[in-house]
Amino acid sequence: MDFAAEAARLDAADPLARWREEFALPDNGLTYLDGNSLGALPKRTKARLEHIIGKEWGAGLIRSWNDAGWITMPATVGAKIAPLIGAQRQEVIVCDSVSVNLFKLIAAALAMRPGRKVVLSEPGNFPTDLYMIEGVAAMGLAEPRLVAAQQIEAALDDQVALLALTHVHYKTGAMHDMARLTRAAQDAGALVLWDLSHSAGAVPVRLNDCGADLAVGCGYKYLNGGPGAPAGGCGRGCAGGGRLSPGGALGPGRSGLPGLRRRPSATPRARRRPGRDRPRGRRRGGRRCTRRRTACRGGASSCGRPACGGARRWPG
Ligand SMILES: Cc1ncc(COP(=O)(O)O)c(C=O)c1O
Repeated sequence: MDFAAEAARLDAADPLARWREEFALPDNGLTYLDGNSLGALPKRTKARLEHIIGKEWGAGLIRSWNDAGWITMPATVGAKIAPLIGAQRQEVIVCDSVSVNLFKLIAAALAMRPGRKVVLSEPGNFPTDLYMIEGVAAMGLAEPRLVAAQQIEAALDDQVALLALTHVHYKTGAMHDMARLTRAAQDAGALVLWDLSHSAGAVPVRLNDCGADLAVGCGYKYLNGGPGAPAGGCGRGCAGGGRLSPGGALGPGRSGLPGLRRRPSATPRARRRPGRDRPRGRRRGGRRCTRRRTACRGGASSCGRPACGGARRWPG
């Protein structure tokens, strides 16, 4: 077979082919297949970063936490990722690294299954995922149980608090049957945590259709967030308190916030798509809400939305 001709034929028929032009890949004939490690640079990102640094940081300074919507960015970007992974907008938050999210969600899941300590996974899982399970175990909170992929269902018993797996394997590309394993784990009374680092943006993911409880994923691979981009955490039914324990791995000071908005443990990292994601609190024409949190009742005299309710103010 003439592989080059076959590749060109498939490219020509690919409905996604036009997106190639959106990326700034080197103009030297390079074929880049390493999106599983670091996604390519979207052309619009460069201008966007210049705007953030020059205007939002340089000119806006501290006001940009609110005026440029930095403070609500974890939820804003999470809502955009949600459809890619089959979750609801309010169920996804973008914060921290995959490892930090894993640690917090493993700890939260164990707290939700008192009397059970086993975290079930496979020895070939991504090393960081196993380190996080070991870390929680070293604190005396978990008992790791690692079995080959084919033995996972047989290893589910009444000691298992959490089944923690990476959906698409980072080396082989093998994909777990999310629906089947989620059902099996829940039938055994366990929660399920899926690592979507090699799935989100690459293959269809249907977290809610599969009934998955928790998920984490990576921003700098197939989501093209760039080096240092934050990760994502997802919890089913997390719109307003949801299924995660109130304190979780975080301090009690955050327990007043709804659902996943309690999860970030660091200052939000600001980045949004050019011209797309208007900060909350601005009306269509770009006028800013001038009211304070307590005074904003919505309507034409303020931001034009139903009371913006503090979304624009730095908490505390
Ligand atoms: C499957 C998987 N899990 C976890 C991680 C760790 O991610 P982070 O370095 O953002 O904590 C990676 C990173 O490549 C990964 O591919």
